[in-house]
Amino acid sequence: MDQREKWQSSFGFVLAAAGSAVGLGNLWGFAYRSSQGGGLAFLLLYVLVVLIVCLPVLVGEMVLGRSTASSPFIAPVKAAGDSWKPLGWLFAIASCGILSFYAVIMGWTADTFFHSLFIGLPIDMNQAGDFFEKISSGKSVFIGQILSLALTALVVAGGVRGGIERLTRWCMPLLFALLLILAIWASTLSGAWDGYTSFLFRWEPSQLLDKTTIRNAFTQAFFSLSLGIGIMVAYSSYLSKNNKLPKEALTVASFDTAVGLLAGMITFPIVMSFGLKDAVGASTIGSLFIALPTGFANLGVFGRLLAALFFGLAFIAAITSSISLLEVPVSSLMEQFGWRRHKAVWMATLIVFVIGIPSAISLDFLGSMDSIFNVLLILGGLLISILLGWVVPRKYDEDLAGCNSNQRVRRYLKFMLRWVSPPVIAFGLIISIIDLI
Ligand code: PFF
Repeated sequence: MDQREKWQSSFGFVLAAAGSAVGLGNLWGFAYRSSQGGGLAFLLLYVLVVLIVCLPVLVGEMVLGRSTASSPFIAPVKAAGDSWKPLGWLFAIASCGILSFYAVIMGWTADTFFHSLFIGLPIDMNQAGDFFEKISSGKSVFIGQILSLALTALVVAGGVRGGIERLTRWCMPLLFALLLILAIWASTLSGAWDGYTSFLFRWEPSQLLDKTTIRNAFTQAFFSLSLGIGIMVAYSSYLSKNNKLPKEALTVASFDTAVGLLAGMITFPIVMSFGLKDAVGASTIGSLFIALPTGFANLGVFGRLLAALFFGLAFIAAITSSISLLEVPVSSLMEQFGWRRHKAVWMATLIVFVIGIPSAISLDFLGSMDSIFNVLLILGGLLISILLGWVVPRKYDEDLAGCNSNQRVRRYLKFMLRWVSPPVIAFGLIISIIDLI
């Protein structure tokens, strides 16, 4: 039998996991959701959800992958028997479903990058509507979707070390550097302070109890950390025994939150400085594909260059996420049917492409997919916390003890995973379903 692939280094694993977490969800989701009225209250709830609920579950997913050394489809069964097969299915379905519409949005991103460099961007809100119409319909959507999926497949076909780790190793530092440069530039805009205070750092205590703000915090935390759909199971199955998972999970979560904040510090100054406030509230993607190109275009040629930087960076962030989504079905097909990596990659890519066709054609369909799969992520998180907190708690404990992680940290995580995560996630799930309906 083939030996299971392994990461070249712990740092490579952390970068790949952070790459999965940091994606389009950070660049538009964070800003959009904090602008829906939540502001600082959203941010506070988000951090609480991450620390109390997501970290123990994130470590749980990692333990599940490492201790079984299996793909996400098989790992739950290996850990706790056949009755956990549905969780494997949930992982496979959710990852393919999310990638199917994620690739469509990646295509819009690539198209906007292309327009920034070669064609030009809209300069007012009227033109912005037409621009978005153009990039999100007709032939160009399919070209973008296919291109994004093909690039994703090529990287995943390169394997864990030669494809995924190699790409994230140079992409993540580049991404962070670009973000910093753009955030510093945005802070010099006339509307910068106004942007920070009216969206990101606005404090309204009543928002802490608002249903939509609570749902937003849960959704954003799970989506942004790529939690609940087996990605971390897949990535951790290539780990060795001595990685200190709690520390690595904390690094990933901190990096992910920092990128979300930095992205907001780019978006809102632009939005306020160029009078594009209404475009942000209009739709989830409004701020990214309508307001931002228009804002950049107002600065002439220099603005188009900045736009190319921003959308180039967004594409890099997206591809380090899409490869992690594809790795879930790929590693599962390889293990289930004994297929070679190449065959699994192209089969999975074809399936994802076909599922994605309705999202490419209809924005409404894409929106519904987004809402439904966001709820499935939370359900996945709930099942993982029950599996490792209640069904096989010793696995969690033994695995973490085996890598010599700090005992107090271990006790905290164990307690949270058992007693706090399940009820809190169940609460978040119920609120999300009610709010969705
Ligand atoms: N975390 C990525 C983002 O924020 O864009 C995308 C993503 C990957 C979402 C994997 C969900 C997921 F399961």
